This record gives sequence, C-alpha cells and structure tokens, in this order.
Amino acid sequence: MLAGKRILIVIGGGIAAYKVLEVIRRLKERGAQVRVILTHSGKEFVTPMTVGALSGEKVFSDLFDPTEEQDIGHIVLSRDTDLILVAPATANLIARMANGIADELATASLLAAAAPIIVCPAMNQRMWAHPATQRNAAQLAADGVRFIGPAEGRMAERNETGVGRLSEPMEIVAGVEAFFAQAEQPKPLVGRHVLVTSGPTIEPIDPVRFITNRSSGKQGHAVAAAAARAGARVTLISGPVSIPDPSGVDVVRVETAQQMFEAVFSALPADAAIMAAAVSDWRPTSVAHEKIKKTAGDPPPLLFVENPDILATLGHGAQRPKIVVGFAAETTSIEANAARKLATKGADYIVANDVSATGGVFGSDVNRVRILSKSGMDVWPTLSKEEVAERLIALVADRLR
Ligand code: C5P
Repeated sequence: MLAGKRILIVIGGGIAAYKVLEVIRRLKERGAQVRVILTHSGKEFVTPMTVGALSGEKVFSDLFDPTEEQDIGHIVLSRDTDLILVAPATANLIARMANGIADELATASLLAAAAPIIVCPAMNQRMWAHPATQRNAAQLAADGVRFIGPAEGRMAERNETGVGRLSEPMEIVAGVEAFFAQAEQPKPLVGRHVLVTSGPTIEPIDPVRFITNRSSGKQGHAVAAAAARAGARVTLISGPVSIPDPSGVDVVRVETAQQMFEAVFSALPADAAIMAAAVSDWRPTSVAHEKIKKTAGDPPPLLFVENPDILATLGHGAQRPKIVVGFAAETTSIEANAARKLATKGADYIVANDVSATGGVFGSDVNRVRILSKSGMDVWPTLSKEEVAERLIALVADRLR
C-alpha cells in the first residue's frame, strides 16, 4: 500500500527519537520513499549518519546551508511529498507549528507544506496535559493536522506514568497506512455542494439574557467533516458551539434562528442539505433594549413567537436541494413524531434520536439513531457521531448518484 509513497519525516528533539528509526525501516520495507529533516535538537538524540543510512537519502537539517538550498530547499522538500510525519513531536515543536514559527529548516518546511501532516506527540505527561499544549494541539487539529497518539504508559522519567508517550512504531506505521487507505477512498461528492446546519441557536431576551438548548454541535460538525472528506464543497452554518471548526469546510457563524434562516437561504443552491441544528422553536416576542430590572412584585412575563421552520421552508421551497435530511430530537413517541416530521417538513430522511434523560445523546460522543424515509425505517446500532455522519453521507451520496 505504501509503494512509491513519498513520506517526509520531521524528527524532533525528544528521547523517543530512537523509536522513529524503526518507523523509517518499516515504512521503507513497505515500499515508501522516506526523506528526513532533523530539527536542531533532534540531532542531539539521533545522528544524521544513522538516519541517512536507514532512509537511504541525504538528511536535511539546516535552513541556511548553501549546498542544501542549491539543490533542495525547504519549499521543495515540503512540496515534493505525499505526507509529512512529525515524530517525535515535542511540546516545543507543536507550539512552534501551532503559531507558524519558521525558525529552522524543519519548521519552515512545515509552514510551507502543501501535503497533509500527521503529528505524533511525545513528551512528559504534565507537558501534554498543560493547557498551553492542549490549546496548541487543538489549533493544529483545527488547521487540519492529524494526530497519532500520544499513548499512555511509563515516561522516560522514573516513576512517572500517564498520557504523553510516543505511539509504538508499528502503530505509527498502521496510522500512516490508514491515512493513505482513506485518502485513496473514492470521493463520491466531488462537485457537489452540501449545506449543513449545526449547534443550538440562542434567542435574546435582553442585552444580557437569552434562551438556548443543550446541543453541542458534535453531530452536525461530524456530518460536515464527513461530507468534506467525501469531496463535497461544504457550507456549515453553525450556532454558538465550543468545538473547533471541521477542516476543509466554509463556516458561517450565526446566533439566532432568524440569522440561521437567512444564512441557509443565501448559501443556496445546494445538492443536499442536512439540518442537524437544534433550532429554537420560539423566540421572545420582543428583545428589551435595556437589561430588564428586578422589581418588586410579579416577575416579568416572557412571551414567545414562533421562529421560521428552516427545514420545512427549504423542504417545500422552490430551491429545494435534491436531498433534504432533518433530525428529530425526541423524548417520547420517537418514531411517530419522526414519521410526522418526514411529511410536514418535506424531508427525504429524518434521523431520529432519543434525547430523554436516559438517552444521553446531547453532548455525548455516541448516538443511537433511527433513519426514517418513505420506504421505511432503519435502526442503526449505537455508533460514534463520526460513524453516524459517515453512514449518513454515504446514504446521501448514494441517492445523489
Ligand atoms: O420540529 P423539530 O424542531 O423537532 O424539527 C427538528 C428538525 O427541524 C431538525 O432537522 C432541525 O434542524 C429542523 N428545524 C429547523 N428550523 C426550525 C426548527 C427545526 O430547521 N425552526
């Protein structure tokens, strides 16, 4: 599977650098062409001589080496490759990557990279758990960088265990193989535009108060990511969420149902729309311009008007995408309610889930859904929200074909 693949490995300055020598061997055995950049501190842990002997290629390290710049500079190094693997990725290297710092050949190449990047972190567990490192790693993930590990276990420091170890060489090799397997999957949604709504809406009461719901946006964001992986151009219209934007997706941020409505209709036309947002059914009749004061006597009444139903308007509208999918979050009579929504909302599919206290869907990483269409109902097993998204996108791609 790796025959002919050009892999650039950036070796950082960590005690686990020696394990990467094994990764180089295994990748070479599988037919990959491996080139290596050693960071300056990486050279303290493995020598260019060993790395060069294993990779069978010249090893690079210096940004301003005149001979290197002549035949192969950092731009060429990072472009002429199918994948960049950063291992071990120290806390410092991850921080530099997350902030776009290009202070040596390794980091300049990473900044100039057009190829996908996989990072294999390796550091003391306290450094991995530090909010700064977590922030940097989340930033890299939001930038589309993939991760293998870190693994859990004993640290180089005596008597310390935790999450932060470099993954085992064969796990890294398996991760690289899985990456290429996925990259070579057919992309059934190339040339299609997919619209996804996600997250809650918030409906203001006055300048400081609002009503909202418990939607995390995890399911909708996973659907957008899966559609992008399938090759679609994706517009994700999202209410306020605390999860990162999926990579390769155009994100439109909104707050209220009315803003979401407008964003959806200005993003048309689309080939498919998947409406996973938990849109507030009502909004306060009027928004007070000033903070409502606590006064003696009766509390102020809260009156509502109905929000526009985005899904129903789209499902019955002139610009209806070919495939329209709605969600039904129910606490009772799940199937009956979902079946009714299929008709009233003009959807091709309704993804029904149980959001009762015992259902445990909101904010969770797993989902147990039933898929209703005109041809009947399909019960899916408990799956991660990513797997639900993959299956849903496969269904949509099938119908669009
Ligand atoms: O009627 P209910 O809110 O249960 O319907 C849920 C489905 O309808 C979801 O797909 C949701 O995104 C969509 N919806 C909408 N606009 C609304 C209310 C719900 O698009 N105002």
